[in-house]
Parts: sequence; structure tokens; C-alpha cells
Amino acid sequence: MKGLILSGGAGTRLRPITHTSAKQLVPIANRPILFYGIDDMAAAGVTEIGIVISPTTGHEIQEAVGDGADFGVTVTYICQDEPLGLAHCVLISRDFLGDDDFVMYLGDNMLEQGLAGFVAQFKDVRAAAGTPQLGKGPSAPPSAQILLAEVADPTSFGVAELNDANEVVRLVEKPTNPPSNLALVGVYLFDKAIHNAVAAIEPSPRGELEITDAIQRLIDDGHTVVHDVLSGWWIDTGKKDPLLECNRLVLDSLEQRIDGDVDADSVIEGRVVIEAGATVINSTVRGPAVIGAGSVIDRSHIGPYSSIGVDCRITRSEVDNSVLLRRSSVTDIPRLTDSLIGRDAEVERDQRRPRATRLMIGDHCHIGLE
Ligand code: TTP
Repeated sequence: MKGLILSGGAGTRLRPITHTSAKQLVPIANRPILFYGIDDMAAAGVTEIGIVISPTTGHEIQEAVGDGADFGVTVTYICQDEPLGLAHCVLISRDFLGDDDFVMYLGDNMLEQGLAGFVAQFKDVRAAAGTPQLGKGPSAPPSAQILLAEVADPTSFGVAELNDANEVVRLVEKPTNPPSNLALVGVYLFDKAIHNAVAAIEPSPRGELEITDAIQRLIDDGHTVVHDVLSGWWIDTGKKDPLLECNRLVLDSLEQRIDGDVDADSVIEGRVVIEAGATVINSTVRGPAVIGAGSVIDRSHIGPYSSIGVDCRITRSEVDNSVLLRRSSVTDIPRLTDSLIGRDAEVERDQRRPRATRLMIGDHCHIGLE
């Protein structure tokens, strides 16, 4: 079994962060999102991994992940010239995948349950199908397994229709009349039959080769598609608020570890990680929160669900429920909340007269003033 992690894409919903950086490298609890996915693959015994990258942000991903040795896997990079869809990623990965079964995973997704159970189930169901049952010959093994989640409003998802045998018979994108409340989660298992399917489909109205169309094609060609229903949370971190939610969920499992310097005037409460080389001066840090190496927290309050990256500087400010990327700074801000701050960004109270908001912001930024 091989693994395919999709880490290209346009990332329009996470601009401006994605103007300069890969969204799959945005840190959750100070660790790139993508790393959790690679860990999950390794834990599922999948050690030959292809990572689909884009020409603009691929180098950064290659630099961060390297050859995969740090994760106990080997990584092959597959460059996708344009983000032409999830099925297009399978199409261009043909040489890497060969005829092997594979698990495909979206590099900006996170799954509480991991991948091990899902992968084991596909192996078991395929092995069982190949074994003759009492009075019957062997049945055809399923060619795909998809992961479904029960959602309150299926109209904004890809939705699966199941038959009485619990097999997937139809997938519908954003249905007005949903055939079920089971939405497609971004984890898929395929055998080699998917290669004919992705080669046979046409681009959708939005110009992409859709994986839902390829799976529908498998079904139409007589292949069996089975499913599993998600347990635990699943988050697509491709937008700011789900990303902050994911950060909260991961920080919730933190254990306290103080390796940095905390002076006698500071108070650390709850599950807080202060990395070696970080400094906390006359401040309060209330967990769950993580302070990256080289960061300085000075006369400030860091509230719950904050991930402060490497080499950040928080001075005379209050920050909570936020993710700050490396080398960003926050100065004299009474309360910064629900925020995602990019690398080297500076947020400060302007002391000049006349009192005014003075901005120098890049394209596609969002500023929420109090
Ligand atoms: P999406 O988040 O669905 O697409 P996107 O990255 O283009 O983002 P946006 O809608 O905000 O513009 O993609 C899911 C994952 O798959 C993500 O990690 C990017 C990756 N991907 C590719 O690698 N190639 C592609 O052609 C597409 C569409 C996505």
C-alpha cells in the first residue's frame, strides 16, 4: 500500500498566507499540518509516500519534509503544474503509484481517528472478498473505500447514496435534495482501477478533474465502492476559522512542558509548552498554549488556545485563540483574538497623533478592527 498526499492547490481561501507559503505548512500547535498527515500514514504502515506539490510552494514543502527519513517514510515529490483537481493528482501520479493500492489524503486536512483503522479495513475487506465463502465462489474485491461523515447540512458537501447492502451507489456534489446525511471526507483508498476512471472523466464546470466523478465512474463501470463512517473530528484547515478550531483541538491534548525561561514575576497556568530558548517576562500564559523557541513574551497575557511560533515577540498585549507564525510581533494591543498572523507580520498600536488607523497590508488581507 502506497500513500498519496495532495499538497498543491490554489489555497485561495487562505489568502494572503498562501501568497507566499504553502497552506499545508501552516502550523497547528507549532507543527505544520502536513506533518500530522505524514505521521498518520506512517502509523498506518504506509511508508512509500508521494506528495503532490505546486511549482510555487513545492520547494518549501520539499525543504520541510525532505526525503521523509525524519518520519520513517520515503517521499517522492510529484509536481502538478496547475491545480486541475484531485483526480488530476491521481492522473499525474501514475508512475509513482504503479499498480499498487494506495491511500489518498488531503494535505490540509486533519483527522482525529488517524488512518490506521481505515487502511486496515480496506485490506481486510479485499482479502475477505478474495476468499471463497461457504457455497459461493470469491466475490470481486472493492476497488475503492471512501470515508463518510454525518453532517447536519449535506447541501454544501459531496454526498453519498448507499444501497441496502451498504455499498455506495451514487455520489452527488452539493445536492439540493441530499440522498443521505453522509458527506465525503478527504480520505480515499483505491486499487489500480482508479487509473482508468481518472483517465476517462472530463473536467467539471469549474475546470477540475473531480475525484467524485472518478469514483462515480468506478461505480458505473461495475466496481464496488465501500465506505466507513468517521469517528472523532475531521477538519479541513483551508480557511481561517476551521484552522483555529483545529489548533484548539490539537492544543487540548497538550501536556505541560516548560523548557524556556520564565521569570519570577510570570505565571504559567495549565497545559502550556514553552520551548527551550523562549522567554517569558512579567507575563501570564494560560493554557492550553504553546510558545515557540526564540519567542519573547513581555508584560503580556497569552490566553487559551494560542500557538505562538518561533521567534515571535509579544509586548504589552493580550492574545488568545490565535496562531502566530514565525517572527511575527504584537505590540501594545489590548486584545488580539481569533487571529491568524503571517510570518514577519507586525501588529502594533500606533502612538502618533492624530489617532488613526494606519495600514500597510498586502493583497487579500482581512483586518477586523474593534
Ligand atoms: P482544496 O482545499 O479543495 O483546494 P485548494 O487548495 O485549491 O484551495 P481553495 O479552494 O482555497 O483555492 O484542496 C484540498 C487539498 O488538495 C489541498 O491540500 C490542496 C490539494 N490540491 C492539490 O494538490 N491539487 C489540486 O489540483 C487541488 C484542487 C487541490
